[in-house]
Amino acid sequence: MKRTAYLLISITLVSCTQNKEYTGFDYRVDSLLSIMTIEEKIGQMVMYNGNWEFTGPVPADADNQMRFKNIKSGRVGAMLNVLSAEGTYEAQKLAVENSRLGIPLLFGYDVIHGYKTMLPVPIAQAASWDRKVAYESARLAAREASAAGIHWTFAPMIDVSPDARWGRIMESAGEDPYLTSVMAKAWVEGYQGSSLSDTSTIAACAKHFAGYGLATAGRDYNTVDISPQTLHNIVLPPFRAAAEAEVATFMNAFNEIGGIPATGSTYLQRDILKGNWNYNGFIVSDWASIGELMNHGFAKDSTHAAELSVKAGSDMDMESGVYEKSLRNLVEKGVVSEELIDDAVKRILNLKYKLGLFDDPYRYSNPDRQKYVLEDKNNEAIARDMGRRSIVLLKNESKLLPLASNPGKILVVGPIAASKDIPLGNWRAQAVANSAVSLLEGIKSRYPNSEIEYKEGYKFTMGERNFFNNLTFEKEDYSGFDGALKEAANSDVVIFSMGEDCFQTGEGRSQTDISPKGAQQELLQRILKVNKNVVVVLMNGRPLQIPEVLQNSPAVLETWFLGSQAGNAIADVLSGDFNLEGKLPVTFPVDVGQEPLFYNHKNTGRPSSENPDIVFWSHYTDAPNEGILPFGWGLSYSEFHYKDLEVVVNENNEVNMAVTLENRSEVAGIETLQVYIRDHVASETQPVKRLVKFKKVAFEPGEEKIISFTLTREDMGYYNSSGTFSVEDGLFTLMVGGNSRDLLKESLEISF
Ligand code: NOJ
Repeated sequence: MKRTAYLLISITLVSCTQNKEYTGFDYRVDSLLSIMTIEEKIGQMVMYNGNWEFTGPVPADADNQMRFKNIKSGRVGAMLNVLSAEGTYEAQKLAVENSRLGIPLLFGYDVIHGYKTMLPVPIAQAASWDRKVAYESARLAAREASAAGIHWTFAPMIDVSPDARWGRIMESAGEDPYLTSVMAKAWVEGYQGSSLSDTSTIAACAKHFAGYGLATAGRDYNTVDISPQTLHNIVLPPFRAAAEAEVATFMNAFNEIGGIPATGSTYLQRDILKGNWNYNGFIVSDWASIGELMNHGFAKDSTHAAELSVKAGSDMDMESGVYEKSLRNLVEKGVVSEELIDDAVKRILNLKYKLGLFDDPYRYSNPDRQKYVLEDKNNEAIARDMGRRSIVLLKNESKLLPLASNPGKILVVGPIAASKDIPLGNWRAQAVANSAVSLLEGIKSRYPNSEIEYKEGYKFTMGERNFFNNLTFEKEDYSGFDGALKEAANSDVVIFSMGEDCFQTGEGRSQTDISPKGAQQELLQRILKVNKNVVVVLMNGRPLQIPEVLQNSPAVLETWFLGSQAGNAIADVLSGDFNLEGKLPVTFPVDVGQEPLFYNHKNTGRPSSENPDIVFWSHYTDAPNEGILPFGWGLSYSEFHYKDLEVVVNENNEVNMAVTLENRSEVAGIETLQVYIRDHVASETQPVKRLVKFKKVAFEPGEEKIISFTLTREDMGYYNSSGTFSVEDGLFTLMVGGNSRDLLKESLEISF
């Protein structure tokens, strides 16, 4: 067998590399590298899309025939979108049993919020502010994906995302670099487990390096033009956290940043990531982003694009075809040194060793395990629990929620409530279409003895909905209004579902209008006139523009897209079986014109005015500066009261904070305490506040506790524009509270 041949060769060649000190798999990697031809090396840097079913007939068209041949001759290192234990087995066999060295392929896939069991979309997971939710979600996704032969996920996406217009905000942890960093670490740990050699783990990929979430005007793939200060303090911290958590790979980004496309950026990839951070995993390009260097006006042709990318540190070419076409020539001509190729290949082989693929290339492709894991009923319980922890209670006037144990007649309105598909989200991997528990089903199963009516009420999307195409919306169909209004007048409570289709957010789904489409809002306002007991249940992947909804409805619940168990998770919360703990990871605007909108902004030279009617201060003349709901906002069925903040600097120059928190309710609950700081005067100006710590604390009914935090130098400092960490003496304000707006504050001079 070829693989045995390779093992023998590598053992005999070990002697050529014996003078070096080796750690981990380096010894085996070096041995293998020493017998590889330049074509085989470059092959490792090539990733193909799995355009065909590997369990079916060999593709007939010339392009795929060529790809087939290349896999068999060891000219391909990785593939994406090859699915199932059976499919990955067949594809692996092609490479391992036909190529000279039998080097196994790496199978990657976008396992973003689940593989078959869908979990809350990433922004929802971030709304839990709970490391365990991120960790457990990634763990389950990894268990399922690995059982279907997948070795590697293109997740987590940890682009800080302050712009609600950007469709991929749904795939992010929101607008704050600290919360994103905490989630990034938990996601990486969840996917990768304690060892990549465990077949229930998969390699993670920190993406998109870097700046992709700050696309100008929120338009996907658009130019990013940010200051070095924003780069170092907002964009990079989550990536640093992922690198520290030993994420196996990075993906670069489609965007340019400051005139240099990220895929061709030596500064980002070689200087910062592989240099300053000493990162030893590999960097994969985003889909065709190497070829796109030509569109950016950075490379003159595809050979030039290959040269620029490999020199800049992009190790693997995802689907541009540029490395396979040009790298060999570039090496032969001496334009690209073979050392650069070797460095990339070593990084890639190293991961294959860590995953155990050289010991058994088929170890992930086990149909029995696939069946057992994908059909495991426990997965539903995990998804349901992750779901309810991700819900945020935005408003609850007159304690309309939780619903009474016998709520009387319930009317459920809106196609979103009946949809078994929308809750699955946009990146739904191998979830079966229409397989989620709908909101309507969740309510019916929670209240089996209640009278429950459903009315569609408003129309929503028209025609086909899928990952690729634009959606079309029904705009002015009022035919369902009368029926819904009549039922609403005769019901005890109305559950009104509204928001977005899950295919409104995601890649390529930027919008300039972020209010609910069609006649949703109109119907809601009319229902509110005939029945005051309306609970609005939102499903959406971005902050929405909904000021009237928030002003006029007594209760509003943000449920994002919660995945396979959405309906049950929402019913758990509506009924009070589960007390809420979610907080917004993004600011909700009053108007889309405020975007990008984020709580950690600068003060400006004209932050306010004694006479606001004179226009010369930083404001809008037609909208407030602040959003309608602040970052960190979220209510609970408990009532938390903060008091008595004490702040002292201890002998180690650390800041000790203590605050008293009381649960003034009869309901046990969990509060997420948030600590913000402001550094008033600095060599480079600082935000009016920024999150530096948070803690989730459980309270019994009526319980009061003193909660303390310690802030170190690392929490108090910032990166200056050259990327150097700096802590400066001076006046600081320390703040603590349950959201970023309503905070207890103490100011003091601190010297470090
Ligand atoms: C493009 C997306 O930007 C990236 O996040 C994804 O992983 C790749 N496509 C592969 O599907």
